Amino acid sequence: MSTAPTLSELADDLEHRQMQELGERVVVKSFLYHLAGGERTLGPRPQGKRLLMGEDPRLPPMPEKPTLLDFFRLRLAPTQAHLLQSANLAQKNGLPEKMVLACLLHDIAVVGFIRADHGYWGAQLVEPYVDEEVSWAIRVHQALRFFPDESVGYEYPDLYRTMFGEDYRPEPYIVAEYERARKHRWYMSARMICVNDLYSFDPDVEVELEQFGDIIGRHFRQPPEGLGNDNTPASHMWRTLRRPCNAL
Ligand SMILES: [Fe+2]
Ligand SMILES: [Fe+2]
Repeated sequence: MSTAPTLSELADDLEHRQMQELGERVVVKSFLYHLAGGERTLGPRPQGKRLLMGEDPRLPPMPEKPTLLDFFRLRLAPTQAHLLQSANLAQKNGLPEKMVLACLLHDIAVVGFIRADHGYWGAQLVEPYVDEEVSWAIRVHQALRFFPDESVGYEYPDLYRTMFGEDYRPEPYIVAEYERARKHRWYMSARMICVNDLYSFDPDVEVELEQFGDIIGRHFRQPPEGLGNDNTPASHMWRTLRRPCNAL
């Protein structure tokens, strides 16, 4: 007859499931992953184990000198289709190349890094490699998405009513960002991201990443040593995206 596990056995089992073992190495997750699960903890402490440092065998291997396209192919979520569709629309609408790039990258934080404050994170990630207007527009689209602009036919998205509720109101910092942006010389660039920000996909329209290869080549300053191997204020973010569970 089997006996019910004791509390400490249950705790051990939970710890074991929370730590993933990769051969001799154990994966420990960052505080933020636990916090996102509603827990203020660093997770179980692996005793006497080696921790994962270096390439993560659970993820597709990356080339030694990864490019933006490599990150698209090997790290970003499949929902990156949203980025391709937005950039495709921007191209059809005749936007300048660098704004097509802005549309291609506008939600890179959502599909590859973090959702909260995604415009700010996304702008920071690409800032050293793009024209200042591009990163500014990516940063500010976060706020502009919540405010209509009739002059270009942009309305408050219906989707936001569904996602956030009829009574949702943007926080004061978003309102302040919007008010600053309205007076900015690049206001319309950020607004163009919103106008080309597609939420209703046509599943029959497949947009290939290769379509934007030339634009990326001309407007994204790919570091020859590879994203993350370079030395910019954003290099560490690319390294974290490449190896998200490095212990330190
Ligand atoms: Fe966005
Ligand atoms: Fe978007």
